[in-house]
Amino acid sequence: MNAPLIEFRDITVTFGGVTAVDKVSMSVVPGGIHGLIGPNGAGKSTLFIVACGLVRPRAGAVYLEGRDVTRMGPHRRARLRMARTFQQLELFGVLSVYDNIRTAAEIRRGWAHDHSDCGRDTDEVLERTGLREMADERADRLPTGLARLLEVARALVTKPRLLLLDEPAAGLNEQETLALSSLLQGLTDDGLGIVLVEHDMDLVMQICRVITVLNMGQVLKTGNPGEVRKDHAVIGAYLGSAEVSV
Ligand SMILES: Nc1ncnc2c1ncn2[C@@H]1O[C@H](COP(=O)(O)OP(=O)(O)O)[C@@H](O)[C@H]1O
Ligand SMILES: [Mg+2]
Repeated sequence: MNAPLIEFRDITVTFGGVTAVDKVSMSVVPGGIHGLIGPNGAGKSTLFIVACGLVRPRAGAVYLEGRDVTRMGPHRRARLRMARTFQQLELFGVLSVYDNIRTAAEIRRGWAHDHSDCGRDTDEVLERTGLREMADERADRLPTGLARLLEVARALVTKPRLLLLDEPAAGLNEQETLALSSLLQGLTDDGLGIVLVEHDMDLVMQICRVITVLNMGQVLKTGNPGEVRKDHAVIGAYLGSAEVSV
């Protein structure tokens, strides 16, 4: 059996006196969407920055495809074909949609040392994400939905095997959410692994194969959507709100 794309083993992270993540273990395998949900402050974004190497855990280890990367810096890790989007958007506002994607493609080629055709890679991603018509728009003039899509496009052009998405559907309307959902499902059909942090429970329940529920830095439950919906601890801590009918 292949090693998971990413594995967190007993990860603990503290900020000052606050334990943001408390002995969390989680494995993500290729070809499906792994949901990571939980109330605000549960530790979801912190796990992402641990994955990228921006914060070092106090205890525990991170493995990328079986390789211990716990002590590896963020730049070297990105070369292991992991990409992410941020809860706060990080686009080049004055650049066009095309140039935002192309710049990411060129940065990737810089470290990948291959002969990728950045123009062709950019075109492919424009096509795949449906951003072709906005290619000449400035990024800071895009409505939120398209700006979030552009973040995903910039991540995709780096040709990841693992994509970490932090609330990509925040601020999207129903139609945009639907488009995002079919884009993500199409990507996993091609073997990409996706970790999705998202508050839109309908979206999570529809498209995730596995869901990990965090609460106060700890894993409350890992299971398929049906199992998570039925779990009493999860309902009590999280789903008890009106967001989901269980
Ligand atoms: N840079 C930081 N400094 C201090 N505390 C932080 C920092 N980042 C996150 N935290 C704390 O860690 C906990 C988890 O936060 P976070 O991972 O952002 O949660 P989530 O993304 O699930 O909403 C919260 O209590 C938050 O206040
Ligand atoms: Mg967060």
